[in-house]
Parts: sequence; C-alpha cells; structure tokens
Amino acid sequence: MTATMHTYNQFPIEIVDGHDFHLIDQNNKAYVDLTSGIGVCNLGYSNQQITAAVTKQVGKVWHISNLYPNTLAEAVAEDLCPDGYQAFFCNSGTEANEAAIKLAHKSTSKEEILAFDYGFHGRTLGSLSVTGYPHIQEGFQPLMPAVDLLAYNDPAALAAITENTAAVMLEVIQGEGGINVGDQDWLLQVQKKCQETGTLLIIDEVQSGMGRTGYRFAYEQFGLEPDIITVAKGLANGLPVGALLAKNAVAAHFQPGDHGTTFGGNKVVMASAKEVLAQLNPAFLAEVRTKGDWLFETLHEELDSLPAVEEVTGTGLMVGIHLAETVPVGHVISLLHRQGILTLSARGNTLRLLPPLIIDQATLAESVAAIKKVIADLSA
Ligand SMILES: Cc1ncc(COP(=O)(O)O)c(C=O)c1O
Repeated sequence: MTATMHTYNQFPIEIVDGHDFHLIDQNNKAYVDLTSGIGVCNLGYSNQQITAAVTKQVGKVWHISNLYPNTLAEAVAEDLCPDGYQAFFCNSGTEANEAAIKLAHKSTSKEEILAFDYGFHGRTLGSLSVTGYPHIQEGFQPLMPAVDLLAYNDPAALAAITENTAAVMLEVIQGEGGINVGDQDWLLQVQKKCQETGTLLIIDEVQSGMGRTGYRFAYEQFGLEPDIITVAKGLANGLPVGALLAKNAVAAHFQPGDHGTTFGGNKVVMASAKEVLAQLNPAFLAEVRTKGDWLFETLHEELDSLPAVEEVTGTGLMVGIHLAETVPVGHVISLLHRQGILTLSARGNTLRLLPPLIIDQATLAESVAAIKKVIADLSA
C-alpha cells in the first residue's frame, strides 16, 4: 500500500536526473526520452536559459496572487497571444478547458457544447464531459448536460452545429485519442459552419501546441482562426501552467468576479514561460518542421514494410505508430525500456512519440532502428 492513490499504473523506473533529451533512473541507467513528460519538457532537461530565468525569479518573489498587476504575466500574454486575443493564465490544460467552457457559455448565452469521440480535454467534471471516451467518463455521472459527442473527421458532424450551439471544441490532432490528424477540408467546414451559426470554435492545443508540430499552434498549418485556444503542457517546460486565449470580443465577457484562480500567472512559472516563448522563435520552429519531415520519411521507409505496423500518423514531432493487435503496445514500450528508450502509448494500440523538440537527428535515427527491431522481433 502506498501513501499516494493508485490512479496510474507505473513503470518500475524512477527518473532521478536528466540532461538535454536524456533521462537517468535510480540505477543510473540512461534513457533516450521520446516522451517529454507527456509533451511537456519540449526544450529538454538542462536548458540553461530557462534554468537561469527560473532561478533568478526564485531568488525574488514567487507568488503574489492576481490582486496585483503582474508585468511578467502581461509580457508572456503579449508574446503568446495571436493579434487580437487576450490570455487568462491558470495551472493545467484541464483548467484552461474548463475556463473555455465557462467563457463559451457566458459569451453566447447558449448551453450546447459539441465535442468529438476520442478527443481528450481533461478530467474535471466540465472537461470530462467533453472528453469522448465512455470508459473515462464511466462512474462519474452526472456530467455536464447539453454536450454531444460526434464522430471526428465525419462530414455528418456538420449538421449538428446549429444556432443553438455555444461552442465546438476539438483538437486538430487528437493526441491521447491515437494521433488522429484532422482533415483540413473538414476542419475548415467545421469553422465555416461555426461562423454561420454564431458558434465559437475552441481549439485545444494543450498537446499539439508550443512547437510540437513545428508551429506555436498546430491549427496554423490548417488555416484556421479559432475564437478560443487552450494551451498548457509545454508552455513552461515542466512548471505547471495553462492558458485560455480568446479573441478580444469574446474575452471581454469575463469581467472581475466571473472567473479566477489563486496560482494563475505565478511569477516563477511565468519566468519560465517567457523564456520558453523566446526560444520558440521562427528559426527554431522551422528546424522542428525539418526534423519532423525527416522523421516521418524515415518512419515510412523503415516501418511501412512491417506487417504489424498498420499506419504511421502525425506531424512534426507528434507521432503515432499504429500497431496490429498481435503486437501489444505495452509490450513494445517495456522492451524499449530495456533498450534505453522511453516511449508512450495512445488509444488504439498506438505507440506514441513526443520527443523533446531539441532532440537530434542521429538519436532519432537510432531510436527508429530500435523501434523497428522490437516490433519486428515481437511480430516474428
Ligand atoms: C489535448 C489535451 N487537452 C487537455 C489535457 C489535460 O491537460 P492537463 O493534464 O494539463 O490537465 C490533455 C492532457 O493530456 C490533452 O492532451
């Protein structure tokens, strides 16, 4: 019996140290990290500038509440927001999505929220209601009313968006759901239908944002312009953070007393986020795109011929290797541990890779070779 609740099945590896894109366990075994702490430590484990920025702030004041102006949070918001948006800072992706749902209700005076099967938006009651997995929702009813879950990438979903809909909430690339990439035409049609019906489009960039696909926000590559954006995970490279970004006219519906959080905009977290955003500059993002293109080419070259690999999906450094049922992903992950490689799973027997964005091409090549060998050996 442990003193912490058993909400996760854990691997018998305790990470005690790390540098760049490498992690070290309690037995001094080194691993190549292809997880980034589930898409969080995108700029690695020994980023000197981030460490210096955080350390400097730790030497001053850590927390002041939102009752006083915070120029650090203001600077992060200015850098993070696309033109014409305002930010609200909180502590996680779930909390950002929770705020997005509240803002959608308040600003439209409508109730209905549409979301998609196998979209993942969080585990608090509001965000859980729009998380399209029956088994994750099970046991937690009643959830939020007036939510409909629709099939992702399905043209039939468009008919469900009407004048009664407050918001449509989606990921342009479903992460937990199996690295399912949205179809660009479908996404553009969803946006059009939202605009025609006075429905807000909420794009959850918690996993796909902050450089993961070679863009600050993955929606940029689909030509979308959401009303509300949520981010978290990579924004502070490992310190807890979330943010709700909304177009100015929508954001104006949150007035003093409408929403709040004690820790949102925490100065230590903002010091990290400011440095993260400085590093997610156009040159760095272009490098991520180049690395991602090369990685997908290599994955196709190496894995397409394996009968146990059904499909490789994703973009940038957000990868799903969809495996046949005969090769259980949990088994692949454990065998890769032995080879010194940390990977993730996603729904549908998918091996998911979310390496730190600073990983080098040679390490990616070695990792692909190891993944290929493990899958081939297991399916032999
Ligand atoms: C797309 C997406 N939205 C929301 C969340 C929830 O974020 P958090 O765990 O920070 O609350 C996640 C977490 O995996 C996610 O992938």
